Amino acid sequence: MSLSISLTINGQARTVVLDDPRVTLLDLLRERLDLPGTKKGCDRGQCGACTVLVDGRRINSCLSLAASLDGTEVTTIEGLAEGEALHPVQAAFIAHDGFQCGYCTPGQIMSAVGLIKEGHANGDPERIRELMSGNICRCGAYQGITEAILEAQK
Ligand code: FES
Repeated sequence: MSLSISLTINGQARTVVLDDPRVTLLDLLRERLDLPGTKKGCDRGQCGACTVLVDGRRINSCLSLAASLDGTEVTTIEGLAEGEALHPVQAAFIAHDGFQCGYCTPGQIMSAVGLIKEGHANGDPERIRELMSGNICRCGAYQGITEAILEAQK
C-alpha cells in the first residue's frame, strides 16, 4: 500500500509517494530526493552522520520513518548556505579545521546548527562536547569542531 506525504525540504514544498512505509528519512533524502549530503554511517542511530533538522530540532534521519514526518519542515546540509554565502557554522568549521576526511561533517554541522538554536551551550566547551557526543568523528577532529561551534555561537 502506498502513502503520500507532504514535507517542506530546505524551503521547498515536496509531496512524495512512499511505496514502502518503512523507508527512513535518510533513504528518502539520499535515494529519492537527490540530496546525498546527508551521510549514512552506521544506519542505526550511533554515529550522527545522518543528522538533519526536523522542525528545527536535531534528529538521526536513519531512525526516523519518513511516513511519520508528514507536514514537517526538514533542513539538510544542502539547505544551509544562501547562494554563495556559507552558513556561519559552515564558515567556522573551515576556519577552525573542524574536519579531516569530511564524511561526518554534514552531520556535525547540522548538529551544531541545532545545538546553537537550542541555546544550551553558552560558550562552555565541555557542554558543547557533551551536546555533540552523538556525532562521532573517526579522524578525531573534535578540538576544531568545538572551536568552530564556540565561534559560531558568538
Ligand atoms: Fe544515522 Fe549513524 S547513520 S546515526
